[in-house]
Amino acid sequence: MDKLIIEGGKRLEGTVEISGAKNSSLPILAATFLSREPSVIKNVPQVADVFTMVKIMKSLGAKVQHNGNTVEVDPRNVKNPVLTYKLVSTMRGSICFLGPLLARFGEVQVSFPGGCVIGQRPIDLHLKGVRTLGADVKLEHGYVVAKCKKLKGTRVYLGGSFGSSVLGTGNIMMAAALAHGKTVIDSAACEPEVVDLGNFLKKMGAKIDGLGSPSIEIEGVKKLTGAVYSVIPDRIEAGTYIIASAMTKGDVTIKNIDLRMLGAMLDKLKDAGVIITEKNGHARIRRERVLRPVSVTTLPYPGFPTDLQAQMMAMMCIVPGISVITEKIYPERFMHVSELNRMGANIMLEGHSAIVSGRKTLSGAPVMASDLRASAALVLAGLVAEGVTDVSRVYHLDRGYENLVAKLQSLGANIKREKE
Ligand code: EPZ
Repeated sequence: MDKLIIEGGKRLEGTVEISGAKNSSLPILAATFLSREPSVIKNVPQVADVFTMVKIMKSLGAKVQHNGNTVEVDPRNVKNPVLTYKLVSTMRGSICFLGPLLARFGEVQVSFPGGCVIGQRPIDLHLKGVRTLGADVKLEHGYVVAKCKKLKGTRVYLGGSFGSSVLGTGNIMMAAALAHGKTVIDSAACEPEVVDLGNFLKKMGAKIDGLGSPSIEIEGVKKLTGAVYSVIPDRIEAGTYIIASAMTKGDVTIKNIDLRMLGAMLDKLKDAGVIITEKNGHARIRRERVLRPVSVTTLPYPGFPTDLQAQMMAMMCIVPGISVITEKIYPERFMHVSELNRMGANIMLEGHSAIVSGRKTLSGAPVMASDLRASAALVLAGLVAEGVTDVSRVYHLDRGYENLVAKLQSLGANIKREKE
Protein backbone atom coordinates (compact mmCIF):
# COMPACT_ATOMS: atom_id res chain seq x y z
CA MET A 1 0.00 0.00 0.00
CA ASP A 2 1.24 3.48 -0.75
CA LYS A 3 1.26 6.65 1.27
CA LEU A 4 1.80 10.32 0.50
CA ILE A 5 4.49 12.40 2.15
CA ILE A 6 3.70 16.10 2.13
CA GLU A 7 5.95 18.90 3.38
CA GLY A 8 3.68 21.85 3.99
CA GLY A 9 4.17 25.56 3.44
CA LYS A 10 4.66 25.77 -0.32
CA ARG A 11 2.60 28.37 -2.22
CA LEU A 12 0.96 26.78 -5.26
CA GLU A 13 1.53 28.55 -8.59
CA GLY A 14 0.95 27.73 -12.25
CA THR A 15 -1.68 26.02 -14.37
CA VAL A 16 -3.48 22.73 -13.82
CA GLU A 17 -5.70 20.95 -16.36
CA ILE A 18 -8.89 19.31 -15.10
CA SER A 19 -9.61 15.71 -16.14
CA GLY A 20 -12.93 14.23 -17.22
CA ALA A 21 -15.66 13.70 -14.63
CA LYS A 22 -15.51 10.37 -12.79
CA ASN A 23 -19.21 10.63 -11.83
CA SER A 24 -20.23 11.05 -15.46
CA SER A 25 -17.90 8.40 -16.82
CA LEU A 26 -19.28 5.56 -14.68
CA PRO A 27 -22.97 5.80 -15.74
CA ILE A 28 -22.02 6.71 -19.34
CA LEU A 29 -19.88 3.56 -19.64
CA ALA A 30 -22.80 1.51 -18.26
CA ALA A 31 -25.15 3.21 -20.75
CA THR A 32 -23.11 1.85 -23.68
CA PHE A 33 -24.70 -1.53 -22.83
CA LEU A 34 -28.12 -0.18 -23.93
CA SER A 35 -27.04 -0.67 -27.55
CA ARG A 36 -25.70 -3.65 -29.49
CA GLU A 37 -23.37 -1.32 -31.35
CA PRO A 38 -19.91 -0.07 -30.30
CA SER A 39 -19.41 3.30 -28.58
CA VAL A 40 -16.29 5.41 -28.00
CA ILE A 41 -16.11 7.45 -24.78
CA LYS A 42 -13.42 10.13 -24.62
CA ASN A 43 -11.98 12.33 -21.85
CA VAL A 44 -12.49 9.48 -19.35
CA PRO A 45 -10.24 10.00 -16.29
CA GLN A 46 -7.65 7.32 -15.59
CA VAL A 47 -8.81 6.57 -12.05
CA ALA A 48 -9.32 3.30 -10.17
CA ASP A 49 -13.13 3.45 -10.38
CA VAL A 50 -12.91 3.56 -14.19
CA PHE A 51 -10.51 0.59 -14.22
CA THR A 52 -13.03 -1.30 -12.07
CA MET A 53 -15.82 -0.36 -14.47
CA VAL A 54 -13.80 -1.68 -17.43
CA LYS A 55 -13.18 -4.93 -15.52
CA ILE A 56 -16.91 -5.29 -14.83
CA MET A 57 -17.81 -4.62 -18.48
CA LYS A 58 -15.33 -7.25 -19.66
CA SER A 59 -16.66 -9.75 -17.10
CA LEU A 60 -20.15 -9.21 -18.54
CA GLY A 61 -18.87 -10.16 -21.99
CA ALA A 62 -18.15 -6.79 -23.64
CA LYS A 63 -15.03 -6.14 -25.71
CA VAL A 64 -13.35 -3.09 -24.19
CA GLN A 65 -10.27 -1.20 -25.36
CA HIS A 66 -8.97 1.29 -22.81
CA ASN A 67 -6.24 3.58 -24.11
CA GLY A 68 -5.34 6.55 -21.97
CA ASN A 69 -8.50 8.68 -21.63
CA THR A 70 -10.46 6.82 -24.34
CA VAL A 71 -12.62 3.74 -23.75
CA GLU A 72 -13.99 1.85 -26.78
CA VAL A 73 -16.82 -0.50 -25.84
CA ASP A 74 -18.31 -3.23 -28.05
CA PRO A 75 -21.28 -4.60 -26.05
CA ARG A 76 -22.77 -6.88 -28.72
CA ASN A 77 -21.61 -10.11 -26.93
CA VAL A 78 -22.79 -9.14 -23.45
CA LYS A 79 -24.81 -12.17 -22.37
CA ASN A 80 -25.11 -12.85 -18.73
CA PRO A 81 -26.50 -9.77 -16.87
CA VAL A 82 -25.31 -10.77 -13.38
CA LEU A 83 -23.19 -8.39 -11.25
CA THR A 84 -21.62 -10.54 -8.59
CA TYR A 85 -20.99 -9.51 -4.95
CA LYS A 86 -17.26 -9.63 -5.74
CA LEU A 87 -17.68 -6.98 -8.45
CA VAL A 88 -20.22 -4.72 -6.72
CA SER A 89 -18.42 -4.75 -3.36
CA THR A 90 -15.40 -3.08 -5.01
CA MET A 91 -17.49 -0.17 -6.25
CA ARG A 92 -21.04 0.91 -5.31
CA GLY A 93 -21.28 2.87 -8.56
CA SER A 94 -21.75 -0.45 -10.38
CA ILE A 95 -25.42 -0.17 -9.39
CA CYS A 96 -25.74 1.98 -12.54
CA PHE A 97 -25.82 -1.23 -14.61
CA LEU A 98 -29.30 -1.97 -13.17
CA GLY A 99 -31.23 0.24 -15.64
CA PRO A 100 -29.33 -0.54 -18.88
CA LEU A 101 -29.17 -4.33 -18.34
CA LEU A 102 -32.84 -4.56 -17.33
CA ALA A 103 -33.88 -2.50 -20.36
CA ARG A 104 -31.74 -4.51 -22.80
CA PHE A 105 -32.18 -8.05 -21.43
CA GLY A 106 -35.51 -7.85 -19.55
CA GLU A 107 -33.71 -9.16 -16.46
CA VAL A 108 -30.71 -8.41 -14.30
CA GLN A 109 -29.18 -9.65 -11.07
CA VAL A 110 -27.13 -7.14 -9.08
CA SER A 111 -25.53 -7.92 -5.75
CA PHE A 112 -27.07 -5.67 -3.11
CA PRO A 113 -24.47 -2.97 -2.43
CA GLY A 114 -23.00 -3.16 1.10
CA GLY A 115 -22.33 -0.37 3.58
CA CYS A 116 -20.20 2.71 2.94
CA VAL A 117 -18.06 4.80 5.30
CA ILE A 118 -19.76 8.03 4.23
CA GLY A 119 -23.12 6.76 5.48
CA GLN A 120 -26.09 4.59 4.75
CA ARG A 121 -26.54 4.47 1.00
CA PRO A 122 -29.81 2.66 0.31
CA ILE A 123 -30.99 1.94 -3.27
CA ASP A 124 -34.72 2.00 -2.51
CA LEU A 125 -35.32 4.81 -5.02
CA HIS A 126 -33.60 2.85 -7.82
CA LEU A 127 -35.78 -0.19 -7.05
CA LYS A 128 -38.95 1.90 -6.68
CA GLY A 129 -38.20 3.49 -10.06
CA VAL A 130 -37.80 0.23 -12.01
CA ARG A 131 -40.81 -1.27 -10.20
CA THR A 132 -42.89 1.73 -11.31
CA LEU A 133 -41.79 1.02 -14.91
CA GLY A 134 -43.26 -2.46 -14.47
CA ALA A 135 -40.35 -4.59 -13.31
CA ASP A 136 -40.81 -7.39 -10.82
CA VAL A 137 -38.08 -6.85 -8.23
CA LYS A 138 -37.06 -9.35 -5.57
CA LEU A 139 -34.18 -9.60 -3.11
CA GLU A 140 -32.78 -13.17 -3.18
CA HIS A 141 -29.61 -14.39 -1.44
CA GLY A 142 -28.18 -10.87 -1.31
CA TYR A 143 -29.04 -10.12 -4.93
CA VAL A 144 -31.52 -7.72 -6.43
CA VAL A 145 -33.31 -9.77 -9.11
CA ALA A 146 -35.32 -7.59 -11.48
CA LYS A 147 -37.34 -8.94 -14.38
CA CYS A 148 -39.60 -7.34 -16.96
CA LYS A 149 -40.34 -8.46 -20.55
CA LYS A 150 -41.04 -4.87 -21.67
CA LEU A 151 -40.71 -1.82 -19.42
CA LYS A 152 -43.64 0.55 -19.70
CA GLY A 153 -43.25 4.35 -19.58
CA THR A 154 -45.14 6.20 -16.78
CA ARG A 155 -44.70 8.89 -14.10
CA VAL A 156 -41.96 8.12 -11.55
CA TYR A 157 -41.46 10.20 -8.40
CA LEU A 158 -37.81 9.88 -7.28
CA GLY A 159 -37.66 12.25 -4.31
CA GLY A 160 -36.14 10.72 -1.13
CA SER A 161 -35.48 11.84 2.47
CA PHE A 162 -32.30 13.58 1.31
CA GLY A 163 -33.71 14.92 -1.94
CA SER A 164 -33.16 13.40 -5.37
CA SER A 165 -30.76 10.57 -6.25
CA VAL A 166 -28.03 11.13 -8.87
CA LEU A 167 -27.44 7.53 -9.94
CA GLY A 168 -31.11 6.74 -9.25
CA THR A 169 -32.14 9.35 -11.83
CA GLY A 170 -29.50 7.96 -14.20
CA ASN A 171 -30.76 4.39 -13.83
CA ILE A 172 -34.41 5.31 -14.50
CA MET A 173 -33.44 7.54 -17.45
CA MET A 174 -31.48 4.64 -18.99
CA ALA A 175 -34.28 2.11 -18.34
CA ALA A 176 -36.92 4.47 -19.74
CA ALA A 177 -34.90 5.14 -22.91
CA LEU A 178 -35.92 1.68 -24.25
CA ALA A 179 -39.30 1.42 -22.49
CA HIS A 180 -42.64 1.42 -24.26
CA GLY A 181 -44.15 4.91 -24.19
CA LYS A 182 -43.32 8.05 -22.25
CA THR A 183 -41.76 8.32 -18.79
CA VAL A 184 -41.72 11.46 -16.64
CA ILE A 185 -39.24 11.48 -13.77
CA ASP A 186 -40.37 13.90 -11.02
CA SER A 187 -37.90 15.16 -8.40
CA ALA A 188 -35.09 14.15 -10.75
CA ALA A 189 -31.49 15.03 -9.88
CA CYS A 190 -30.19 18.11 -11.74
CA GLU A 191 -26.45 17.43 -11.37
CA PRO A 192 -24.25 18.24 -14.44
CA GLU A 193 -23.29 14.55 -14.51
CA VAL A 194 -26.97 13.60 -14.99
CA VAL A 195 -27.18 16.08 -17.87
CA ASP A 196 -23.97 14.62 -19.32
CA LEU A 197 -25.41 11.09 -19.20
CA GLY A 198 -28.63 12.36 -20.79
CA ASN A 199 -26.69 14.05 -23.61
CA PHE A 200 -24.84 10.81 -24.30
CA LEU A 201 -28.16 8.90 -24.41
CA LYS A 202 -29.52 11.47 -26.86
CA LYS A 203 -26.45 10.91 -29.06
CA MET A 204 -27.40 7.21 -29.02
CA GLY A 205 -30.85 8.18 -30.29
CA ALA A 206 -32.81 8.53 -27.05
CA LYS A 207 -35.61 11.10 -26.83
CA ILE A 208 -35.15 13.13 -23.65
CA ASP A 209 -36.34 16.57 -22.51
CA GLY A 210 -35.87 18.53 -19.31
CA LEU A 211 -32.28 17.55 -18.52
CA GLY A 212 -30.93 19.69 -15.69
CA SER A 213 -34.44 20.29 -14.34
CA PRO A 214 -36.33 18.32 -11.63
CA SER A 215 -38.72 16.98 -14.28
CA ILE A 216 -37.22 14.84 -17.06
CA GLU A 217 -39.32 13.38 -19.90
CA ILE A 218 -38.16 10.31 -21.85
CA GLU A 219 -40.02 8.95 -24.88
CA GLY A 220 -38.94 5.30 -25.20
CA VAL A 221 -37.49 4.10 -28.53
CA LYS A 222 -37.14 0.59 -30.01
CA LYS A 223 -33.35 0.61 -30.23
CA LEU A 224 -30.34 2.79 -29.59
CA THR A 225 -27.20 3.11 -31.68
CA GLY A 226 -23.58 3.33 -30.53
CA ALA A 227 -22.10 6.83 -30.24
CA VAL A 228 -18.85 8.77 -29.86
CA TYR A 229 -18.93 11.09 -26.85
CA SER A 230 -16.61 13.22 -24.74
CA VAL A 231 -17.23 13.42 -20.97
CA ILE A 232 -17.49 16.84 -19.22
CA PRO A 233 -14.68 18.10 -16.93
CA ASP A 234 -14.73 17.02 -13.28
CA ARG A 235 -16.17 19.89 -11.20
CA ILE A 236 -15.22 18.18 -7.92
CA GLU A 237 -11.59 17.81 -9.00
CA ALA A 238 -11.65 21.48 -10.07
CA GLY A 239 -13.17 22.52 -6.73
CA THR A 240 -10.40 20.66 -4.92
CA TYR A 241 -7.63 22.55 -6.78
CA ILE A 242 -9.44 25.88 -6.35
CA ILE A 243 -9.44 25.34 -2.57
CA ALA A 244 -5.78 24.17 -2.69
CA SER A 245 -4.78 27.47 -4.32
CA ALA A 246 -6.76 29.53 -1.78
CA MET A 247 -5.38 27.64 1.23
CA THR A 248 -1.75 28.03 0.10
CA LYS A 249 -2.09 31.76 -0.73
CA GLY A 250 -1.44 30.57 -4.29
CA ASP A 251 -1.91 31.86 -7.80
CA VAL A 252 -3.26 28.92 -9.77
CA THR A 253 -5.01 28.86 -13.13
CA ILE A 254 -7.52 26.05 -13.61
CA LYS A 255 -7.79 24.92 -17.22
CA ASN A 256 -10.76 23.09 -18.78
CA ILE A 257 -13.51 23.90 -16.27
CA ASP A 258 -16.99 25.39 -16.65
CA LEU A 259 -17.32 27.56 -13.53
CA ARG A 260 -21.12 27.63 -13.87
CA MET A 261 -21.07 24.05 -12.53
CA LEU A 262 -19.56 25.34 -9.26
CA GLY A 263 -21.84 28.30 -8.57
CA ALA A 264 -22.68 27.49 -4.94
CA MET A 265 -19.08 26.79 -3.99
CA LEU A 266 -17.66 29.87 -5.71
CA ASP A 267 -20.26 32.03 -3.98
CA LYS A 268 -19.03 30.81 -0.59
CA LEU A 269 -15.38 31.20 -1.57
CA LYS A 270 -15.98 34.79 -2.64
CA ASP A 271 -17.58 35.48 0.74
CA ALA A 272 -14.45 34.02 2.34
CA GLY A 273 -12.16 36.33 0.38
CA VAL A 274 -11.07 34.17 -2.53
CA ILE A 275 -10.59 36.05 -5.82
CA ILE A 276 -11.72 34.14 -8.91
CA THR A 277 -11.20 35.64 -12.34
CA GLU A 278 -12.36 33.89 -15.47
CA LYS A 279 -10.69 34.34 -18.87
CA ASN A 280 -10.98 32.21 -22.03
CA GLY A 281 -12.51 29.29 -20.10
CA HIS A 282 -9.67 29.36 -17.58
CA ALA A 283 -10.17 30.34 -13.95
CA ARG A 284 -7.41 32.15 -12.05
CA ILE A 285 -7.55 31.63 -8.29
CA ARG A 286 -5.94 34.08 -5.84
CA ARG A 287 -7.05 35.45 -2.51
CA GLU A 288 -7.11 38.43 -0.19
CA ARG A 289 -4.49 38.54 2.56
CA VAL A 290 -6.88 37.37 5.30
CA LEU A 291 -9.73 34.92 4.66
CA ARG A 292 -13.09 35.13 6.46
CA PRO A 293 -14.98 32.19 8.02
CA VAL A 294 -18.08 31.06 6.12
CA SER A 295 -20.75 28.49 6.98
CA VAL A 296 -21.86 25.91 4.46
CA THR A 297 -24.79 23.48 4.09
CA THR A 298 -24.52 20.71 1.54
CA LEU A 299 -27.54 20.23 -0.75
CA PRO A 300 -28.45 18.55 -4.05
CA TYR A 301 -27.29 20.47 -7.15
CA PRO A 302 -27.27 23.45 -7.66
CA GLY A 303 -26.65 23.60 -3.90
CA PHE A 304 -23.20 23.21 -2.29
CA PRO A 305 -21.86 19.76 -3.30
CA THR A 306 -21.36 17.19 -0.55
CA ASP A 307 -18.27 15.97 -2.44
CA LEU A 308 -16.54 19.30 -1.63
CA GLN A 309 -17.64 19.45 2.02
CA ALA A 310 -14.45 17.89 3.45
CA GLN A 311 -12.18 20.08 1.33
CA MET A 312 -14.09 23.23 2.41
CA MET A 313 -13.75 22.12 6.03
CA ALA A 314 -9.97 21.75 5.63
CA MET A 315 -9.86 25.37 4.44
CA MET A 316 -12.00 26.64 7.31
CA CYS A 317 -9.58 24.96 9.75
CA ILE A 318 -7.00 27.67 8.95
CA VAL A 319 -9.39 30.64 8.86
CA PRO A 320 -9.57 32.32 12.29
CA GLY A 321 -13.19 32.52 13.55
CA ILE A 322 -16.16 30.14 13.68
CA SER A 323 -17.68 28.39 10.67
CA VAL A 324 -20.41 25.74 10.69
CA ILE A 325 -20.45 22.98 8.07
CA THR A 326 -23.79 21.14 7.86
CA GLU A 327 -24.06 17.90 5.90
CA LYS A 328 -27.59 17.38 4.52
CA ILE A 329 -26.87 14.63 1.96
CA TYR A 330 -24.83 12.12 4.02
CA PRO A 331 -25.43 13.20 7.61
CA GLU A 332 -22.54 11.09 8.93
CA ARG A 333 -19.96 12.15 6.33
CA PHE A 334 -17.40 13.38 8.84
CA MET A 335 -14.67 10.71 8.78
CA HIS A 336 -12.09 13.46 8.08
CA VAL A 337 -12.84 15.37 11.32
CA SER A 338 -10.76 13.27 13.73
CA GLU A 339 -7.82 13.21 11.30
CA LEU A 340 -7.93 17.00 10.85
CA ASN A 341 -8.09 17.40 14.65
CA ARG A 342 -4.99 15.19 14.84
CA MET A 343 -3.29 17.88 12.73
CA GLY A 344 -4.21 20.50 15.32
CA ALA A 345 -7.58 21.65 13.96
CA ASN A 346 -10.39 22.46 16.38
CA ILE A 347 -13.58 20.86 15.06
CA MET A 348 -16.54 19.78 17.17
CA LEU A 349 -19.36 17.64 15.82
CA GLU A 350 -22.92 18.57 16.78
CA GLY A 351 -25.51 16.33 15.13
CA HIS A 352 -25.11 16.75 11.35
CA SER A 353 -22.94 19.83 11.70
CA ALA A 354 -19.26 20.43 12.34
CA ILE A 355 -18.34 23.59 14.25
CA VAL A 356 -14.90 24.69 13.13
CA SER A 357 -12.89 27.15 15.25
CA GLY A 358 -10.25 28.21 12.77
CA ARG A 359 -6.58 28.36 13.72
CA LYS A 360 -3.66 30.18 12.13
CA THR A 361 -1.76 26.97 11.46
CA LEU A 362 -1.96 23.19 11.40
CA SER A 363 0.85 20.80 12.22
CA GLY A 364 1.99 17.91 10.05
CA ALA A 365 1.10 14.42 11.39
CA PRO A 366 0.52 10.83 10.27
CA VAL A 367 -3.12 10.59 9.15
CA MET A 368 -5.28 7.92 7.57
CA ALA A 369 -7.55 8.28 4.53
CA SER A 370 -11.03 6.77 4.96
CA ASP A 371 -12.82 7.71 1.75
CA LEU A 372 -12.19 9.57 -1.50
CA ARG A 373 -13.08 13.14 -0.53
CA ALA A 374 -11.93 12.88 3.10
CA SER A 375 -8.48 11.92 1.81
CA ALA A 376 -8.46 14.95 -0.50
CA ALA A 377 -9.12 17.14 2.55
CA LEU A 378 -6.15 15.59 4.38
CA VAL A 379 -3.88 16.32 1.41
CA LEU A 380 -5.04 19.96 1.39
CA ALA A 381 -4.38 20.22 5.15
CA GLY A 382 -0.93 18.69 4.62
CA LEU A 383 -0.12 21.35 1.97
CA VAL A 384 -0.47 24.13 4.59
CA ALA A 385 0.62 22.32 7.76
CA GLU A 386 3.94 23.01 9.48
CA GLY A 387 6.27 20.06 8.94
CA VAL A 388 5.51 16.72 7.32
CA THR A 389 2.17 14.94 6.89
CA ASP A 390 1.95 11.23 6.01
CA VAL A 391 -1.34 10.26 4.41
CA SER A 392 -1.79 6.49 4.38
CA ARG A 393 -4.28 4.33 2.43
CA VAL A 394 -4.04 6.59 -0.60
CA TYR A 395 -5.86 3.99 -2.68
CA HIS A 396 -8.93 5.97 -1.68
CA LEU A 397 -7.56 8.97 -3.60
CA ASP A 398 -6.69 6.86 -6.63
CA ARG A 399 -10.39 6.12 -7.03
CA GLY A 400 -11.24 9.62 -8.15
CA TYR A 401 -8.20 11.86 -8.74
CA GLU A 402 -6.12 11.43 -11.91
CA ASN A 403 -2.36 12.09 -11.41
CA LEU A 404 -2.92 14.02 -8.19
CA VAL A 405 0.74 13.94 -7.08
CA ALA A 406 2.10 14.98 -10.50
CA LYS A 407 -0.46 17.77 -10.83
CA LEU A 408 0.34 19.14 -7.35
CA GLN A 409 4.11 18.82 -7.97
CA SER A 410 3.66 20.82 -11.20
CA LEU A 411 2.13 23.59 -9.06
CA GLY A 412 5.15 23.54 -6.73
CA ALA A 413 3.86 21.33 -3.90
CA ASN A 414 6.38 19.30 -1.92
CA ILE A 415 4.59 15.97 -2.17
CA LYS A 416 5.67 12.45 -3.05
CA ARG A 417 4.29 8.93 -3.05
CA GLU A 418 6.04 6.08 -1.27
CA LYS A 419 5.40 2.46 -0.43
CA GLU A 420 4.13 2.11 3.16
C1 EPZ B 1 -23.51 10.21 -6.51
O1 EPZ B 1 -23.77 9.07 -5.67
C2 EPZ B 1 -21.99 10.35 -6.54
N1 EPZ B 1 -21.39 9.12 -7.01
C3 EPZ B 1 -21.46 10.64 -5.13
O2 EPZ B 1 -20.07 10.94 -5.24
C4 EPZ B 1 -22.15 11.89 -4.59
O3 EPZ B 1 -21.76 12.08 -3.25
C5 EPZ B 1 -23.68 11.71 -4.64
O4 EPZ B 1 -24.11 11.39 -5.97
C6 EPZ B 1 -24.42 12.96 -4.20
O5 EPZ B 1 -24.06 14.04 -4.96
C7 EPZ B 1 -21.41 8.84 -8.34
O6 EPZ B 1 -21.96 9.54 -9.15
C8 EPZ B 1 -20.70 7.59 -8.77
P1 EPZ B 1 -27.45 9.77 -4.39
P2 EPZ B 1 -25.24 8.43 -5.59
O7 EPZ B 1 -28.24 8.58 -4.82
O8 EPZ B 1 -25.96 8.61 -6.86
C9 EPZ B 1 -30.03 8.88 -0.53
C10 EPZ B 1 -17.76 10.80 -4.81
O9 EPZ B 1 -17.12 11.21 -3.83
N2 EPZ B 1 -30.61 7.79 -1.34
O10 EPZ B 1 -27.67 11.04 -5.10
O11 EPZ B 1 -25.08 7.07 -5.04
C11 EPZ B 1 -28.55 8.61 -0.23
O12 EPZ B 1 -28.38 7.77 0.87
C12 EPZ B 1 -19.12 10.09 -4.59
O13 EPZ B 1 -17.40 10.94 -5.98
C13 EPZ B 1 -31.70 7.11 -0.84
O14 EPZ B 1 -32.19 7.38 0.26
O15 EPZ B 1 -25.90 9.38 -4.48
C14 EPZ B 1 -28.03 10.02 -0.01
O16 EPZ B 1 -28.32 10.40 1.30
C15 EPZ B 1 -19.40 9.81 -3.16
N3 EPZ B 1 -32.23 6.11 -1.60
C16 EPZ B 1 -28.86 10.83 -1.00
O17 EPZ B 1 -30.02 10.07 -1.29
C17 EPZ B 1 -31.72 5.77 -2.84
O18 EPZ B 1 -32.23 4.85 -3.50
C18 EPZ B 1 -28.13 11.17 -2.30
O19 EPZ B 1 -27.62 9.98 -2.83
C19 EPZ B 1 -30.62 6.50 -3.33
C20 EPZ B 1 -30.08 7.51 -2.57
